[in-house]
Amino acid sequence: MSTDDMKKRAAEAALDYVEDNTVLGVGTGSTANYFIEALSRIKHRLDGVVSSSAATTQRLKAFGIPVLDLNAAGPLPLYVDGADETNRQLQLIKGGGGALTREKIVAAASELFVCIADQSKWVEMLGAFPLPIEVIPMARSHVGRELLKRGGQPVLRENFITDNGNLILDVYNLQILEPAKLEAELNSIVGIVTVGLFALRPANVLLLATAEGVKTIRPWRS
Ligand code: 5RP
Repeated sequence: MSTDDMKKRAAEAALDYVEDNTVLGVGTGSTANYFIEALSRIKHRLDGVVSSSAATTQRLKAFGIPVLDLNAAGPLPLYVDGADETNRQLQLIKGGGGALTREKIVAAASELFVCIADQSKWVEMLGAFPLPIEVIPMARSHVGRELLKRGGQPVLRENFITDNGNLILDVYNLQILEPAKLEAELNSIVGIVTVGLFALRPANVLLLATAEGVKTIRPWRS
């Protein structure tokens, strides 16, 4: 089965979590795009969707799904999104598509975060995927130096501006032994808008598509 087929299956499985007459949050990326496609089949049962990026907004509108502002929608029962990596605690690396800030906001405002992914995203330890960090443009060099001090190799994402008008540094070679601790530490560096580590607020459910089918995984607790 191809990776795309797996992404589609994980996305389809997330429909089971959508309740009638509710507003839900939707993430960004190719797996989230499959979810939007699936969601369009039941759009008459939805009150609307809160989007995590301009790209997702455009896609939702193209499918005729009403897009609502998070401030107007209030707390959400559900957020569905993909990830670049997930570990057994369902702590994630996100931001491959550069939408990490709005994704983190919508995830924070949601009761249940359902992550949809193909099996290639499952890792024992986070960090093989370079950690995306959204940075205020004038703080780029300062943040870069702070990341170097912590053993990371920041690389500016070329020709890319986020929906919020900021830059992305993709940080290679970070040792992510304690994801929540690192997220909190990086959050405290002035000039960083958002760290693509979703460890302080991990996913609640992972729908992981494998060749054998879609597995429902809850966070592993030691
Ligand atoms: C976008 C993201 C995506 O969820 C992540 O990059 C996974 O993308 P895809 O579903 O295309 O593999 O965080 O900012």
